[in-house]
Order: sequence, then structure tokens, then C-alpha cells
Amino acid sequence: MSMRNDVAEILYSEEQIAAIVQNIGRRISEDYKDKNLFMISVLKGSLIFMADLMRAIDVPCAIDFLSVSSYGSGTSTSGAVRILKDLDSSMEGKDLLVVEDILDSGMTLSFLMKNLSARKPNSIRLCTLLDKPERRKVEIYPDYVGAVVPDKFIVGYGLDYAEKYRNLPYIGVLKPEIYSV
Ligand code: IMP
Ligand code: MG
Repeated sequence: MSMRNDVAEILYSEEQIAAIVQNIGRRISEDYKDKNLFMISVLKGSLIFMADLMRAIDVPCAIDFLSVSSYGSGTSTSGAVRILKDLDSSMEGKDLLVVEDILDSGMTLSFLMKNLSARKPNSIRLCTLLDKPERRKVEIYPDYVGAVVPDKFIVGYGLDYAEKYRNLPYIGVLKPEIYSV
């Protein structure tokens, strides 16, 4: 049975996502012309976005990955955030761009931005593919947003439910009956 049967509605097609990513890439290329761009991908959700976005950027950049615990297999945040895999090098003097899949309650990113700011970077900005502002619990304002999405559970293009659906090439809404059993 195809994963596609679990998707209630497609929000962004492959073509629409590509246009969104190109647009953000152009803006970042402009903003980071004479900077020391260091892109940080928050695993695992931002994997696919990161891979596409860095190829839409035409200024030099370095990358690294970090992983935090936020959700288990449920659909809402627990509050506690822990770094599971940290960055490999010092962030001092670098122009950090944190790349995230979706900004929901904001708890994960708020913790992360504070943690990274303490490492003395030259600057730090946040880029999120999707923003779900209705669910925000803390004040956090992303610098680059791909698209604003409604308060529904989103999967595909890196976003998962219980580690599934990351490989869907589009972004869609998961049928509620899949997670409300
Ligand atoms: P926050 O701390 O509540 O902002 O949670 C952010 C993280 O929760 C994201 O990086 C995602 O991994 C996950 N998340 C939040 N909403 C969704 C969703 O609709 N679909 C899939 N994952 C989500
Ligand atoms: Mg994530």
C-alpha cells in the first residue's frame, strides 16, 4: 500500500517547493555575499530542504548537522530539549544559518538559538521551510520562511510522522486517522 494513501491533501507540490527553495536561496546569496556562511541543518527533518537549499545558494558555505530530541512518535512537543548530536567545530566568528523543517511551538528552536548564540558566532539567523504560527508557545521570529502552514500535521519532503513519510517528494497533510488511533 502506498504512503500516498495516508495523505489527506497536498499543500505544496514538488514544483512549488522548488520555486520556494530557489527564492530563499536567492535571498540568502544576496544577504551573505561577504560573510562566512555556515549552514546548520537540524536533523532529521531538514535533511532534504538543506540539500536543496545549499544548491540554490551561490556564495561559499560550510555545513554541519546537529540533532536534538523534541518529539517522540507523538504529534506535539514535550517541552524538554536535549542535544543528541552536537556540531563538530567551533562556531566562533561564523555567520550561522540554522536550517529547520518546521517551526511549531518554537520550543526546540528557541533552545537551540540560545545555545548557539552562546558559542560566539559573528551572527545567527534562522531559516525554516514551514511556519505554523498558530501553535507558537514562545517568541521566536524566523529570518527566512518558505511557507506558512495551517495547524495540521504535515508530512513529506523530510517531515515525518513516527519516522515515516520523509521520502514523500511533496508536502501534505497527514490523515488524522493515522495518528489518532
Ligand atoms: P517545536 O519545538 O514545537 O517548534 O517543534 C519543532 C519540531 O517538531 C520540528 O523540527 C519537527 O521535527 C516537529 N514537528 C512540528 N510540527 C510538525 C508537523 O506538522 N509535522 C512533522 N513534524 C513536526
Ligand atoms: Mg525537526
